[in-house]
Amino acid sequence: MRAAQWFKPHPPYASHGEGCWVVDVDGRRILDCANNFFSLIHGHAFPPILDAVHNAMIRGTAFGLPTESEILLAEALAVRNSRMEQTRFCNSGTEAVLSALKAARAITGRGRVAKFEGCYHGAYDWMEVSLDPTPVNWSDENGDPASVRLGLGMPQSVLNETVVLPYDDPQRCADILRREGQSLAAIVVDPLASRAGTVPMSRETTAVLREACQRDGILLIADEVISFRLSFDGASRSFGLEPDLITTAKIIGGGLPIGAVSGSADLMSVFNHSEGKPKVAMGGTFSGNPLSMAAGLASLAHYSQSAIERLNGLGDQLRNKVKDGFSVRGVKATITGMGSLFRLHLGAAHVTGYRTAYANPEAAQLIRQIQFAMLDQGVLLTPNCSGALSTPMTETEISLIADKLVAVVAKELAEHESGAVA
Ligand SMILES: Cc1ncc(COP(=O)(O)O)c(C=O)c1O
Repeated sequence: MRAAQWFKPHPPYASHGEGCWVVDVDGRRILDCANNFFSLIHGHAFPPILDAVHNAMIRGTAFGLPTESEILLAEALAVRNSRMEQTRFCNSGTEAVLSALKAARAITGRGRVAKFEGCYHGAYDWMEVSLDPTPVNWSDENGDPASVRLGLGMPQSVLNETVVLPYDDPQRCADILRREGQSLAAIVVDPLASRAGTVPMSRETTAVLREACQRDGILLIADEVISFRLSFDGASRSFGLEPDLITTAKIIGGGLPIGAVSGSADLMSVFNHSEGKPKVAMGGTFSGNPLSMAAGLASLAHYSQSAIERLNGLGDQLRNKVKDGFSVRGVKATITGMGSLFRLHLGAAHVTGYRTAYANPEAAQLIRQIQFAMLDQGVLLTPNCSGALSTPMTETEISLIADKLVAVVAKELAEHESGAVA
């Protein structure tokens, strides 16, 4: 079982799903805002995806040969975003990010990489640096974000090779990049990073990245594994980012395992193996498998401009309802997010990035209690109380999520405060 899904005494075990509902083995219907960690944009058992997978499956599940469906999905991405001129597929977001980083190292001839404090980009060692630093260790002697080990087993060399940037301090970010830029192969950025609070990265910071990349010949990798859902062409353009490589996963696989690296034909030629040994090898037994390709094609075909606008509108409604509910009831909490993504935060602080989103152990425990209480009320959130909407949802589900979230947070905080006073 994946670590993030475990809690005591045991989580509900899923039996099946229908639209935005998941049914557990005891027959209980739960409104699913976790959507397998934001990968099911159309919820569960979406008929066009089931049909597409069925049609692909009866022709065979995996081949040691390329299939047409790989080309079709790559073309579907290229149509959405001209920066995704060519795409190579793999099986997860982790693999997509690590392949993009290997490409950047091969293209620039440099070894070091930069990422933003707290931000998650999968399980590649360099991307696990400073994933969960605390106030005790998050700054170095200059007050810059330190490179902090995620856990035992991370070599010192990985820490030395990873520059950590502040998500919400453009001046400091610029200073660090001026100092370190010429040693960097790539900067990896998710402009709506969940661990940095699910708050949009500022235009000032994205401008700093653009300038540093141009000045020092660094490749910009936009990690849109989650944020690709924000608009028809993904997230970068609306944040003023001009990425060299884009990594995607989750919704582009329609609920099946997938990852993808995309970029211009020129940069993507680093993976080219048609002329002999490629500069960077990108393989994988199940990479580009026809079931994921078919599911992904159906998923994107139904995630049209109008579907995106409707879903993002529901996201705005949800955040507004929750904010109003908190304010009417005097609850010291807030909800952040954009488009169809949201995250709960406790306290009155204005959340701008990892440090202002940071929950101390007591607050983190309370957040977990709220997740359990929401589950008790029949709404599934992720462990840090974030969520993602899916296209089967309507205003009815939005009201249900908002009402329950406001009531649960109000109750849990009141009980916590009375416990603290007693
Ligand atoms: C922004 C981002 N990048 C990369 C990943 C890794 O993707 P996967 O879990 O498919 O390896 C995730 C996973 O949640 C993610 O949120």
